[in-house]
Amino acid sequence: MTIAADDFEYVRVLVRTKAGIVIEPGKEYMVDARLGPIVRREKLESIAALVARLRTNIADPLHRQVVEAMTTNETSFFRDLHPFEALRKTVLPALCAKRAAGKSLSIWCGASSTGQEPYTIAMTLREFLPAIDEWSLSFIATDLSSEMVARSKAGAYNQIEVNRGLPATLMVKYFEKQGLGWQIKEPLRRMIDFREMNLTKPWPTFPKFDIVFMRNVLIYFDVDTKKEIFRRLRSVLKPDGYLFLGGAETTMGLDDAFERAPIEKSGCYVMKQAAANAA
Ligand SMILES: C[S@@+](CC[C@H](N)C(=O)[O-])C[C@H]1O[C@@H](n2cnc3c(N)ncnc32)[C@H](O)[C@@H]1O
Repeated sequence: MTIAADDFEYVRVLVRTKAGIVIEPGKEYMVDARLGPIVRREKLESIAALVARLRTNIADPLHRQVVEAMTTNETSFFRDLHPFEALRKTVLPALCAKRAAGKSLSIWCGASSTGQEPYTIAMTLREFLPAIDEWSLSFIATDLSSEMVARSKAGAYNQIEVNRGLPATLMVKYFEKQGLGWQIKEPLRRMIDFREMNLTKPWPTFPKFDIVFMRNVLIYFDVDTKKEIFRRLRSVLKPDGYLFLGGAETTMGLDDAFERAPIEKSGCYVMKQAAANAA
């Protein structure tokens, strides 16, 4: 399949408007590859027929399916390792000491894809603080895609997915074999409240968070969208909270209120003192 120039432009505008995702010119092959399965599923003749249907029926749920198909959902357990080392060695010790009196902790994992990232955070937290069930924990994980949220809630992973990054000791402890795959055990699964959420649309009322993971999603947005997300993050992060970004993401040049935490390779940011005081 090959997409016509004006159909490519239609999809580019749709995805940018609905999800903030920028598709660069020259990515026609990617749009072709991602829309092919929808064309077949809907028994349409071509991508041209799919786009024609989108153009003529703006209320068609197919719009949403096309936008979701254009998201990149790459993820794995303990992806990049360093952020989770920082969580275990620096962030959780500091925060749990500060919050010990009230025994309360709040975490948000934005753009959580199929759930490996929030489950990694939950395992790291449980390993660090076995008594976490005695704490009041608010742990929200969100993604744009309804399919990703459904998969995360199910907590079922195949052998290839668990082989990517998950230490055997944690697999044995937190998963049970189910057919050919692995199922997250209930105590870990119920720690997390999975929800659909579009980062580029108005945010719901959130509690203030101690920790926010917002990794490997800002790379798909333009500069103004990134700035707006950082502005909103400032208002939902506690003044002494921690923000984790992906390896190719930074607040530098986009939001002066944040500075890199002195934790090597972690992609961890904190609010500068002045900004925190003003928050
Ligand atoms: C590459 S994955 C990152 C997953 C995980 N954070 C990680 O680093 O492994 C990017 C995720 O961002 C989600 N996403 C893309 N645009 C979004 C938006 N506007 N709002 C919320 N999530 C979005 C996609 O659905 C996808 O699951």
